[in-house]
Amino acid sequence: MDSQYKKELLAKDRQYVWHPFTQMKDYAEQDHLLITRAQGIELFDAEGKAYYDTVSSWWCNVHGHGNPRIKAAIQRQLDQFDHIMFSGLTHQPGIELAEKLVHITPEGLSKVFYSDNGSTAVEVAIKMSFQYWQQIGRTSKTGFVFMENSYHGDTIGAVSVGGVDLYHAMFKPLLFSAHRVPSPDVRVLGSARTPEREAALVADALEAVRALFQERADTIAGIIVEPMIQAAGGMVIYPAAYLAGLRELCAQYDVHLIADEVATGFGRTGTMFACEHAGISPDILCVSKGLTAGMMPLAATLCREEIYAAFYDDYATQKTFFHGHSFTGNPVACAVALESLRLFEEEGVLEQSHRAATELSSQLRAFAALPQVADVRQIGMIAAMDLYKDAASRTPFGSGTRIGNRIYQAGLEEGLILRPLGDTIYYWLPLSTTPEQVVEITERTLRVFQRVLGS
Ligand SMILES: Cc1ncc(COP(=O)(O)O)c(C=O)c1O
Repeated sequence: MDSQYKKELLAKDRQYVWHPFTQMKDYAEQDHLLITRAQGIELFDAEGKAYYDTVSSWWCNVHGHGNPRIKAAIQRQLDQFDHIMFSGLTHQPGIELAEKLVHITPEGLSKVFYSDNGSTAVEVAIKMSFQYWQQIGRTSKTGFVFMENSYHGDTIGAVSVGGVDLYHAMFKPLLFSAHRVPSPDVRVLGSARTPEREAALVADALEAVRALFQERADTIAGIIVEPMIQAAGGMVIYPAAYLAGLRELCAQYDVHLIADEVATGFGRTGTMFACEHAGISPDILCVSKGLTAGMMPLAATLCREEIYAAFYDDYATQKTFFHGHSFTGNPVACAVALESLRLFEEEGVLEQSHRAATELSSQLRAFAALPQVADVRQIGMIAAMDLYKDAASRTPFGSGTRIGNRIYQAGLEEGLILRPLGDTIYYWLPLSTTPEQVVEITERTLRVFQRVLGS
């Protein structure tokens, strides 16, 4: 790109744009990275420099950027028709995608309600669960439960069931109140971690849920959970036994289990859906991000037949689910999602990602040996580690150090888009990442650590 044009664009970026999750003052003197091209797992800036997209463009991208089959699917759909509303009208990509989702998601989910981003998929789940209990006459079941450290999106309902104070505390006066239960964060065990201690920690976390349900289940509609990994809360990977235990408690006390697989769905954790690690099926499932392989905005909330049935009646009974968005079931996005799922079936996407994940786990050993690194963890194509001034004693870098931000900046110089969460450095790799690229990415990251941490 012409350097004068680049300068003008970045000046207008400062003048007109407010970026998400960004302290804009950080960019008063320093430019945002201007991306002009993306191919495979690489992004290219205005000078043509390549960067590995190690966070899959906010955990969305699955098959790499610019996949030719997906581009062709977009074109095919646009040649037929673009966006149409999804109320009173229907269309083939929306119908066939719903059928496919019902078949590939955990057993028992039978109806698909579309929306257009992860937060709205969660809003839909909350409203659906709430209205269900009203309509079957159990009107006191109005409350929701969430886990400490959880993140379910940025709209007001999703924030109400959010457990990350940095993002959520400010909005407390706007939120509905919900019950917070402990996270089974096994990192607290540190070097004392054994299978027995881990099992005890899970049992304690489940006991807190059981005690709450025992006392209050008649006032609780549902519990929402990020299966297997609390992502935005610091990439906290927890044991599958917790999820299995939650499933049992929800069945025992008649509480909806809402699985938020917005981040984990579509192969990211090594299985198509993270719930599969625990062999469980939720009552309501939220998906987005990887649904369209990260190419188009689309989300879906799936539910069991008995939930749907509570809304199905004569119009005059007023049981309609009055919820919808302008772009609900966008046909182009649905066509993209269908093509992405065909890629999964026809091109062995999960199997290829398993090979890359195996390479990733052997590369991670080098990080575990560093004196500033603790709790190196991995599930499928997601890996994370926490940085400390001294990992052995868990002495943190001071908050003013902004070590994560320094890693991000140094990563750019090495051709890596790393996007740390505080002092947690993580990879959230596209499933198309090859084992060779995994080696390249981890070697570059080690160089970044050496530069910033001196390790
Ligand atoms: C588990 C989870 N739920 C919901 C969301 C919100 O999705 P969106 O950003 O599309 O609104 C996210 C986003 O990161 C997420 O990780």
